[in-house]
Amino acid sequence: MSDINWSSLPFGYFKTDYNVRCYYRNGKWGELEVSQSEEITMHMAATCLHYGQEAFEGLKAFRGEDGKIRMFRPDENAKRLMRSADGIMMAPVPEDLFVEACAKVVKLNERFVPPAESGASLYLRPLLIGTGAQVGVKPADEYLFMVFAGPVGPYFKEGFNPVKFQIVKDADRAAPHGTGTIKVGGNYAASLQSGFRAHAEGYANCIYLDPSTHSFIDEVGAANFFGIKNNTYITPSSSSILPSITNLSLRTLAEDLGLKVEQRPVAIEELKEFEEVAACGTAAVISPIGQIVDRETGKEYNFGTEAGPTSTKLYNLLRGIQLGTEPDTHNWNYIVE
Ligand code: PLP
Ligand code: COI
Repeated sequence: MSDINWSSLPFGYFKTDYNVRCYYRNGKWGELEVSQSEEITMHMAATCLHYGQEAFEGLKAFRGEDGKIRMFRPDENAKRLMRSADGIMMAPVPEDLFVEACAKVVKLNERFVPPAESGASLYLRPLLIGTGAQVGVKPADEYLFMVFAGPVGPYFKEGFNPVKFQIVKDADRAAPHGTGTIKVGGNYAASLQSGFRAHAEGYANCIYLDPSTHSFIDEVGAANFFGIKNNTYITPSSSSILPSITNLSLRTLAEDLGLKVEQRPVAIEELKEFEEVAACGTAAVISPIGQIVDRETGKEYNFGTEAGPTSTKLYNLLRGIQLGTEPDTHNWNYIVE
């Protein structure tokens, strides 16, 4: 695709050639189908439209400098989608079907996988929805699993330069014993108002706190949080955070780099002790955080205008593995052939 300016792509929808779909009917998954349509036809009483039976995933494929195309840990996204399906009583997508569908959509849209040096990647969006009709509040008996893909650039326009976030106490993305740990559409609906307000007030997004006490850090918009102090990688544990596959990988890489790793509640006041803080996720990769402002108290936490040394090391190592320039010692890449 010579007419795509790969290095200036935003993070957004991009029409490609094909998507893949699979229907669950009569208690079983059918064949994987290839489609060129951007549309879905469904029953007006489909449960995804009324009762939020919808879950999605996000993962990336990268073209390496060796020309190979690698998907990053699709098996982990498959497992998370199974947990999401279980959480809102949808038919689970078997791991093999999930990975096969992702590989197929990459292969079919190979011409849209950005070149290695562009910094862009092919973002895959697997989607599982209840398509069966119900009017009572019940799970559907029919489901659609599909995967579409499109080339994307950085999630935050700042790229690997520090961004500003706002701590909010008057909005939660999930309830204390709700759906925060699974990737369902309702969590994102719940975050729209506060996210848009944060943008309007000059921030990249919100930092959500634990919804029971509003004293511990949960998540950073659609990304996890980590901080570095005393040679330790610290990331919150909470019952309302989405377990990030990027964060899972960074914990391993941090250990490989000789850091200690702690996953435990992180109180707001601890922010002042961190040497570096960042957001991490598939879309966000690692986004260093330069400033955090508590919207309620106005208190500011500043972390400098450049990415810190440990975040930079982690970023280079993660990107290197994804692009095939660093050894994939943990066998995370799935090569699409
Ligand atoms: N937290 C939320 C709420 C997200 O939407 C995402 C993105 O998927 C993440 C964290 C990061 O997770 P991952 O690294 O698996 O993309
Ligand atoms: C991700 O895949 O990292 C995201 O959560 C992206 C976001 C647009 C929902």
